[in-house]
Amino acid sequence: MKTILQTENLTKIYKVGKVETQALRGVSLAVNQGEFVAIMGQSGCGKSTLLHLLGGLLSPTSGKIIIDGEDLSKVSDAQRTDIRRRKIGFVFQRFNLFPTLTADGNLRLAERIHSGNGGNAERRREVLSLLKLENKINNKPLELSGGEQQRVALARAVINNPAIILADEPTGNLDTENSKIVLEMFKQLNEKFNQTIIMITHNPEAAANCNRIINMRDGRIVDN
Ligand SMILES: Nc1ncnc2c1ncn2[C@@H]1O[C@H](COP(=O)(O)OP(=O)(O)O)[C@@H](O)[C@H]1O
Ligand SMILES: [Mg+2]
Repeated sequence: MKTILQTENLTKIYKVGKVETQALRGVSLAVNQGEFVAIMGQSGCGKSTLLHLLGGLLSPTSGKIIIDGEDLSKVSDAQRTDIRRRKIGFVFQRFNLFPTLTADGNLRLAERIHSGNGGNAERRREVLSLLKLENKINNKPLELSGGEQQRVALARAVINNPAIILADEPTGNLDTENSKIVLEMFKQLNEKFNQTIIMITHNPEAAANCNRIINMRDGRIVDN
């Protein structure tokens, strides 16, 4: 089994003026390729901070992050951005879609950012239909339901075939019905493409889909 992602004794201290918040107090973690992991814990315990560090959106105060064999602390900012683009797909609670672009256009933009070209229309169609959006390809975000928007965001996260999908409360803004659909899509992506997924959730039903649940409290993993 291949370790796709690893952290060693990660800490993160935020400083705002003179106030310091220790958001992470030594997190060591290893995730295998193809695992579907849930991160749970009370609000403020450091879940989003951990996810942002794993995705190279933030730098740790101390400790190590190794993504697919590459130590993020040993590379330049430019290389870190490159690793993020090649290996990571993000899904957030707010869908963060471009309102003026269609579903297809949002995916095309992600392709362009990733590889600098016009992308692959065939693959976009395939991914959108896997997420049951084949009839919504030309809809803009406001012409989609919340669940559909989150599925477009999920399509965008996987369009460039990243090794790892990081999702921060992806069903946090969805009703029960839409949550179910989106979670089923995560599960399918995980099973069909062996995509590694790390998902923050407050929902025990969502976590029940996962291979492993990591519980956090006060900046630490309390069991996993
Ligand atoms: N950008 C930031 N600047 C200062 N403090 C922050 C920032 N982001 C998060 N925090 C603080 O760090 C702690 C952990 O936050 P976060 O990782 O967002 O927790 P969670 O996602 O589990 O709710 C909280 O006390 C929060 O207020
Ligand atoms: Mg959070």
